[in-house]
Amino acid sequence: MHFSITVALAAFPFLVGAVPAHNSRDNLLSIPLSKRWLSQSSDNGSAPGNISLTATNRTFSWAGTIQVGTPSKEYSVVFDTGSADLLLFGPSCPTCQGHDIYDPSQSSTANDLKTPFNFTYSFGNLTGDVFTDSVAVGGFKVSNETLGVISITGANYNATNFGADGVLGMGFKGLSLYNSSSVFETLVNGSQLPEPVVGMVLADSNPELIVGGRDSSRYKGDLVYTPVDTNNTDLWDTTLDVIDSGRPLILGDRESIANIYAGIPGSSRLNVTDPKQNPLWTYPCNTTVNASIVISKTSFNIPSENFNYTTIGGGLCTGVFAEFVADIEDPGFWVLGNGFLRNVYTELDYGKLQIGFGQLA
Ligand SMILES: *[C@@H]1O[C@H](CO)[C@@H](O)[C@H](O)[C@H]1NC(C)=O
Ligand SMILES: *[C@@H]1O[C@H](CO)[C@@H](O)[C@H](O)[C@H]1NC(C)=O
Ligand SMILES: *[C@@H]1O[C@H](CO)[C@@H](O)[C@H](O)[C@H]1NC(C)=O
Ligand SMILES: *[C@@H]1O[C@H](CO)[C@@H](O)[C@H](O)[C@H]1NC(C)=O
Ligand SMILES: *[C@@H]1O[C@H](CO)[C@@H](O)[C@H](O)[C@H]1NC(C)=O
Ligand SMILES: *[C@@H]1O[C@H](CO)[C@@H](O)[C@H](O)[C@H]1NC(C)=O
Ligand SMILES: *[C@@H]1O[C@H](CO)[C@@H](O)[C@H](O)[C@H]1NC(C)=O
Ligand SMILES: *[C@@H]1O[C@H](CO)[C@@H](O)[C@H](O)[C@H]1NC(C)=O
Ligand SMILES: *[C@@H]1O[C@H](CO)[C@@H](O)[C@H](O)[C@H]1NC(C)=O
Ligand SMILES: *[C@@H]1O[C@H](CO)[C@@H](O)[C@H](O)[C@H]1NC(C)=O
Ligand SMILES: *[C@@H]1O[C@H](CO)[C@@H](O)[C@H](O)[C@H]1NC(C)=O
Ligand SMILES: *[C@@H]1O[C@H](CO)[C@@H](O)[C@H](O)[C@H]1NC(C)=O
Repeated sequence: MHFSITVALAAFPFLVGAVPAHNSRDNLLSIPLSKRWLSQSSDNGSAPGNISLTATNRTFSWAGTIQVGTPSKEYSVVFDTGSADLLLFGPSCPTCQGHDIYDPSQSSTANDLKTPFNFTYSFGNLTGDVFTDSVAVGGFKVSNETLGVISITGANYNATNFGADGVLGMGFKGLSLYNSSSVFETLVNGSQLPEPVVGMVLADSNPELIVGGRDSSRYKGDLVYTPVDTNNTDLWDTTLDVIDSGRPLILGDRESIANIYAGIPGSSRLNVTDPKQNPLWTYPCNTTVNASIVISKTSFNIPSENFNYTTIGGGLCTGVFAEFVADIEDPGFWVLGNGFLRNVYTELDYGKLQIGFGQLA
């Protein structure tokens, strides 16, 4: 089976329509937002190489701070494995109020490529201009990184509705909206990182991104690696060996999801009226669900409390395993979202084109 890991597409749904090759990503449009991700605290004193992450408001995603421009200014960005571009809200955007705005006229190193971008999405268009400027991530600096400065959004992305100043895509150039390498690819291509890897700890406790190395204090045992599908180097997608019974927002086709909940007494499928919503399933909250996902012959457990996605009343919870939206037919394809990733240490290896997973320490 085939899967793609993703961190943040739900946060910036209009990015999804850009995907040329894997239309399966469309199902990420409507991962329901969960308030459980509100008000995570971040720790401040991160060493160079480490970025402390914070759960953003009303999004199932994680944000951290980067520095852009000269003099450099700080922006909080969602780290998104499912896209490849750095996008920041620009000064002329009426639906981006309340954010730290990237204003190229205030940066002496900003370079206007005179290239507008207009992308059409079902969720509303995205319009802006492409610039290059210096960008620093975890203490590593790229002097001339391509970034999109957003001037018009189809939806309201003001600071109340969206808890970050932009998005930093961690995918590959093949996924870029304007054919440019992502920040981490640029760092790796320039041999600027001690090791060409980025680690993600998306746990509730001290979530962080580890740039250019691995922090073995955050996982137990060795990392288990699985190769990225190099037939189509854009997303972080790879091969999944087995899915055990049990399971966590992890998306699969309708039949596979139904099979999972068949093993949980009292579970039932929720009807959705919006065809862009991922159908969720409910189950009795007092059920202990032993879920695990097997990758490269290693089982990664999802604790029962993390199987619980939301509580809907009447003793019922929704589970983190959900269906793709109705029009996606790609049997055997899975998307491992935060419902899975919050339980593991994840390493994106840009050098060997593989993904490593470890059990959190
Ligand atoms: C982080 O910094 C903010 C202000 O910059 C401060 O209020 C907060 O206490 C700090 N948190 C920690 C964990 O040091
Ligand atoms: C990241 O932070 C941890 C704990 O603060 C520290 O042990 C580790 O060395 C840091 N890693 C890097 C690459 O700075
Ligand atoms: C964002 O927009 C909402 C309406 O959608 C409004 O209630 C809120 O005050 C706005 N917040 C900011 C920071 O502009
Ligand atoms: C993009 O959209 C803007 C505003 O809607 C418009 O002014 C501009 O001409 C468009 N550019 C292209 C290349 O379509
Ligand atoms: C989005 O873009 C398409 C094609 O450029 C255009 O036809 C449509 O009117 C735009 N929608 C909005 C809401 O601007
Ligand atoms: C930065 O990149 C742009 C296009 O990629 C190029 O036009 C410009 O000359 C570059 N600037 C520097 C300082 O390398
Ligand atoms: C998150 O939302 C709460 C209210 O829902 C608000 O008080 C808080 O300021 C928001 N925080 C951020 C970082 O947007
Ligand atoms: C993307 O850029 C590369 C050079 O960096 C070029 O060879 C390729 O043709 C470009 N692709 C598109 C679709 O523009
Ligand atoms: C790449 O494509 C070939 C031929 O279509 C296929 O056999 C192989 O499994 C693919 N590799 C991956 C990692 O999906
Ligand atoms: C769900 O939808 C189906 C058909 O669309 C309908 O027959 C069924 O009664 C609905 N179930 C609930 C619980 O609303
Ligand atoms: C499920 O998660 C919600 C918060 O999202 C929490 O309020 C509830 O207690 C949890 N239920 C169980 C059974 O863990
Ligand atoms: C779970 O709660 C239901 C009622 O909501 C009850 O009938 C059932 O016995 C409970 N199961 C367990 C294992 O506590």
